[in-house]
Amino acid sequence: MPLELVETIADLRSRVASRRPAGLVGLVPTMGALHEGHASLIRRARTECATVVVSIFVNPIQFDRPEDLERYPRSLDVDTDLCRSLGVDLVFAPTVAEMYPAALECRVEVGRLADHLCGRYRPGHFSGVATVVLKLFQIAQADRSYFGQKDGQQLAVVRRLVSDFNVPTTIVGVPTVREPDGLALSSRNQRLNPEERRLAPALFHALHGVQAAVAAGTTSVDDLKQLASRHIPADSRLRLEYFEIVDPVDLQPVARVTGPVVAAGALWVGTTRLIDNVMIGV
Ligand code: PAJ
Repeated sequence: MPLELVETIADLRSRVASRRPAGLVGLVPTMGALHEGHASLIRRARTECATVVVSIFVNPIQFDRPEDLERYPRSLDVDTDLCRSLGVDLVFAPTVAEMYPAALECRVEVGRLADHLCGRYRPGHFSGVATVVLKLFQIAQADRSYFGQKDGQQLAVVRRLVSDFNVPTTIVGVPTVREPDGLALSSRNQRLNPEERRLAPALFHALHGVQAAVAAGTTSVDDLKQLASRHIPADSRLRLEYFEIVDPVDLQPVARVTGPVVAAGALWVGTTRLIDNVMIGV
């Protein structure tokens, strides 16, 4: 069946309902500017579900900096073409007024999971993500919902959201897709000029270096953080916002690596903020 582009909540609900007898419904929430990272989520959903819904919505309430929202790339036509080529059934692309007809009175509050990593530097961000994701879950009523490990803190928050609010969807985490030089694919990579693009894999090199050091027996997080910062070239365009090593479930910092951990960082490259993480010891 050809792809259907849907703009209203009521329309999406009725189209999903009519397809439900065919089998599982899968939801891939995105903010558009789709790339191979998104495509890997969509392909996974396509192999597991009878109906695949991709939502494309640049969610204003999760942006903590107005200029980031303004500069966020938007390309609905190209995105829809990519979805069509991947066999997506429904693209849900609502307007801001459709999703937020009035200012919200209720929002999802995120606790300790948002205390560290990006949550510490982006006040309100994970509350905005959890709120829109809960709305999307209620709207699409999908059996399975697909999220990338690239946004590891987001994935942990979404897993807790689903368990705390008894949402009847199964969360599927999908591995990070990278460029050949290690840079994690991101819609924000489009903003990098050639010189910035050359510097951008530094964060992955730091994460990779830490992974190797743990494998070689280093357990002190202080030592690992120092090692990580040595991978970031001294260049005025680069600023490491944070580099942390945390427990994979509750995302609290650890002092020593004695079991599975996540190493995660945020690197400013010029005026673009890039994030990445790797799982260690799993
Ligand atoms: P967005 O940044 O568009 O990402 C949509 C999904 O694609 C997320 O689950 C993200 O983790 C995944 N993704 C992005 N880059 C990836 C990569 N290189 N490899 C694998 N997966 C990748 O994340 C959001 O949108 C929003 O916060 C959203 C969940 C849609 C709520 O507004």
